[in-house]
Amino acid sequence: MIQKPKNLAPANISENAELVLSKRYYRKDSDGNCIETASDLFWRVASAIAEEEKKYAKSNYQPEELAEKFYSVMTNGYFLPNSPTLMNAGSPLGQLSACFVLPVGDSIEEIFDAIKYAAMIHKSGGGTGFSFSNIRSKDSRVGTTGGVASGPVSFLRIFNTATEQIKQGGTRRGANMGILRIDHPDIMEFIRAKEQEGEFVNFNLSVALTEKFMEAVEKGEDYDLIDPHSGAARGTLNAKEVFDILVNKAWISGDPGIVFLDRINRDNPTPQQGEMQSTNPCGEQPLLPYEACNLGSINLSKFVIPNKTSDNKEEAVDWDSLKEIIHLSVRFLDNVIDASKFPLEKIAEKVRTNRKIGLGVMGFADMLFALELPYNSEEALQLAEKIMEFIQTEGHNASRQLAEERGAFPAFSESIYKDGKPLRNATVTTIAPTGTLSIIAGCSSGVEPIFALAFARHVMDGERLVEVNPYFENALKSCDLYTNELMDAVTNVGSIASFDFLPQHIRDTFVTAMDISAEAHLRMQAAFQKYTDNAVSKTVNLPNNATIQDIDRIYRLAYTLGCKGVTVYRDGCKSGQVLNIGSKK
Ligand code: CDP
Repeated sequence: MIQKPKNLAPANISENAELVLSKRYYRKDSDGNCIETASDLFWRVASAIAEEEKKYAKSNYQPEELAEKFYSVMTNGYFLPNSPTLMNAGSPLGQLSACFVLPVGDSIEEIFDAIKYAAMIHKSGGGTGFSFSNIRSKDSRVGTTGGVASGPVSFLRIFNTATEQIKQGGTRRGANMGILRIDHPDIMEFIRAKEQEGEFVNFNLSVALTEKFMEAVEKGEDYDLIDPHSGAARGTLNAKEVFDILVNKAWISGDPGIVFLDRINRDNPTPQQGEMQSTNPCGEQPLLPYEACNLGSINLSKFVIPNKTSDNKEEAVDWDSLKEIIHLSVRFLDNVIDASKFPLEKIAEKVRTNRKIGLGVMGFADMLFALELPYNSEEALQLAEKIMEFIQTEGHNASRQLAEERGAFPAFSESIYKDGKPLRNATVTTIAPTGTLSIIAGCSSGVEPIFALAFARHVMDGERLVEVNPYFENALKSCDLYTNELMDAVTNVGSIASFDFLPQHIRDTFVTAMDISAEAHLRMQAAFQKYTDNAVSKTVNLPNNATIQDIDRIYRLAYTLGCKGVTVYRDGCKSGQVLNIGSKK
């Protein structure tokens, strides 16, 4: 264990961050009392991850020096690894990845193995994705008993119940993704599975669409349903009719989402190891069966040079510091793979073969506020592409540097990168939702616009956190416009779109998720996806009065813009929303 230096600067975190950390992240004694502070937590993580450096003789870093650097980037809010790393690094559990995909075979043994493995992963704080596409359809024959099969949706129910019973390592309840191919004979039952509110609450469901299907939608043609067990056609459906139902369901409840399977597999870095059939729970990480991936996010709001006035907003981005943090973050995430203890040997093997990591961003909306760039502007889209291209390029450079020190990932010679310079990681970039990380770092989440300029957030066990956007507050104060009455009014509606007494530049800059058109949401997702190895977590928010045609257009546009999937959410279509506007105390 690397000794904690005496002169280490203490971690300076917000009240909200302290609340979240003390509830679920700090280590506790047997009576449930916290036995660490924020500084202890970040040192535990930094030192455990830097310790791995000792294995590599060619490293340019001393582990002690690296531990201090990791501590500094985390406590200064530049970078955070995903929650399981914060919770478990340096602890006996030691499972550090947020994302797993498990195969679900077509036999009772394989199905219940998957449930067991998922339980083990949930206990350690990870989330699991499954494709149910290999399970034979309902009412088809079962050879051993002569009976009839139950089909994927009935097994899905067992996975859901099992998840319900296992609180993740006493930390959080397991999140799951369930995927079914559009050509599975039980697809209509799957599409309707979450029709009743309260059904399958531990699952995000997504339908895997193929290019063949999308072409059939365009042409209004029928397509074949294929039984995965026999490979035989089991009837046909009209593609346009199925697509319309999908769109309709998304309009009603947001479920199911869609993923574009061919697009995902076109970016599969190791196609010789098989096809990708599923993503992790929030959709940003497609993985092969038994693969896991650890994520980390750079807080972009920290890379704006203060008081730099220029029409060219790119000049106000501190590219040099960003490059340094990208290189450190990639080293950090690669070390996490070595430090992690996996719940299953098969997973450990697979992870060490491809060594996937997922470096992404958070605080993008805050960065735009600081630069006074409207989220729904052409310049914001250009900046998004420029930043992600930079992270992708430097992230890959960092991974190449690591390959020189440590060797390429073992499957490199059979990967799509085999003709280039060796890489340490089969994938480097992913954009996560950063649901909790963004609270800890005190920034806007992922690449999302902010939900409201002032709001009450419900987190874990009914706890409420009240937040006013600090950039908005500062901007108003600098124009001498900040009053308590105004803040009350903003808390009630969340947005200032209708406050025409406020200056235009403030109304243009401080836009919220609800002020932005669905198309602008999607274009931002596509801008980030262009330079992301894995996928982008993004919700296309729509106002309550959005029409079914709006969603139809968004689904088709997501396909043409090259997104790997899309999740829409129409305001107010579900009770118990995580974020609520106007909930005054
Ligand atoms: O911010 P944090 O690191 O806690 O997580 P996130 O970025 O919101 O989610 C990243 C991934 O963590 C998800 O896609 C899931 O794979 C996993 N996750 C989970 O398993 N259970 C949760 N309650 C939240 C996230």
